[in-house]
Amino acid sequence: KKVVLAYSGGLDTSITIPWLKENYGCEVIAVVGNVGQDNELDGLEEKAIQSGASKIFIEDLTDEFVEEFVFETLKAGAKYEGKYLLGTSFARPVIAKKLVEIAHSEGADAIAHGCTGKGNDQVRFELAVKAFDPDMEIIAPWRTWELKSREDEIEYAKERNIPLPMKEDNIYSEDRNIWHISHEGLDLEFPDTEPDFSKVLKMSVPPEDAPDEPTYISIAFEKGVPVAIDGKKMKGTDIIKTLNKIGGANGIGIDDIVENRLVGMKVRGVYENPGGAILYRAHEILESITLDGDTKHYKDKISIEFANVVYNGKWFSPLRESLSAFVNKTQETVTGDVKLKLYKGNIITAGVTSPYTLYSEEFATFGEDGVYDQNDSQGFVNLYALSTKVQSMMKKKVKES
Ligand code: ARG
Ligand code: SIN
Repeated sequence: KKVVLAYSGGLDTSITIPWLKENYGCEVIAVVGNVGQDNELDGLEEKAIQSGASKIFIEDLTDEFVEEFVFETLKAGAKYEGKYLLGTSFARPVIAKKLVEIAHSEGADAIAHGCTGKGNDQVRFELAVKAFDPDMEIIAPWRTWELKSREDEIEYAKERNIPLPMKEDNIYSEDRNIWHISHEGLDLEFPDTEPDFSKVLKMSVPPEDAPDEPTYISIAFEKGVPVAIDGKKMKGTDIIKTLNKIGGANGIGIDDIVENRLVGMKVRGVYENPGGAILYRAHEILESITLDGDTKHYKDKISIEFANVVYNGKWFSPLRESLSAFVNKTQETVTGDVKLKLYKGNIITAGVTSPYTLYSEEFATFGEDGVYDQNDSQGFVNLYALSTKVQSMMKKKVKES
């Protein structure tokens, strides 16, 4: 038997290798999906083999992740529960798709992952696997094994000479990629307590430690996709990396939220999205002049649905694809430049232009204009007010009778 394992090099997935071999008598092929977790990839090859894997694949999925998942969601303006930029949620499907590909090319019988039975990630991995192979067996050791704590895991690893991650035992449950880092667990499990940012943050400084001088940047978009910073054309991954640096230095994009997991419980997490927060805001500003009101208001509803679908693991679904089709139609004119001022955690609008702008000084002005006859409004307001007036007449009548 051959099993393909979604491997990260952390303690959980490291001990999964011997556990699978002992419990299934199988060969384990480790697969790492590189979605921009960068330094976490150092030394993975040796580690996987030392832990007992027969082979390891380290697949660079970063460009695909950014262009087909991150930007697709950015265009939708989708934030889960109005805040979370979905960094982990859409990383699972891109990795799972690759797991299935490798499972097929290696002739594997099953796919294993290291998610717990209490979280969202198990759902996202498994739905994406099923989307590409309805018959693939899925193994989720966390849901069945006897290891109940980090201490149990360390003990298990030591008994089998599995290389332990260098970090001490006091670490948050984190997920990192080019778009974000999520932090959960330990003291964050108490929402009455302010997080100690000096311990938590990895991409950004706390806003109070950011420079006293603001930083100006300009971002160019074509059809809703960012294409240049300060006039310099760059590919998507470079745009995000650049903005992560600038945003991180200015304390931008730190969210501390309690969210509702699909499986029912609430969880408190701190997210770092320096580049993401900047791109979302810039994109919103550009849409404010390029989308007409009706489309904008309808799209706001689509954003909520889009976020729920992605959060709940249904990236590969007819619904998500249909929502994307709507979104992409709206983005045809979302082209232009947005200038921003970044200052101690704040993103401040500093100007927006677009060849497709619908904003017209001529119409909007409080000064004299030659394009708008204010007399036209009298009939409009009378008719628009009709139902309000009828309601009010009824109340008056009832009161008087
Ligand atoms: N709560 C976030 C989500 O559901 C982050 C999950 C982080 N996952 C992890 N394996 N550390 O998308
Ligand atoms: C996990 O439970 O494996 C991580 C958190 C999540 O999936 O929501």
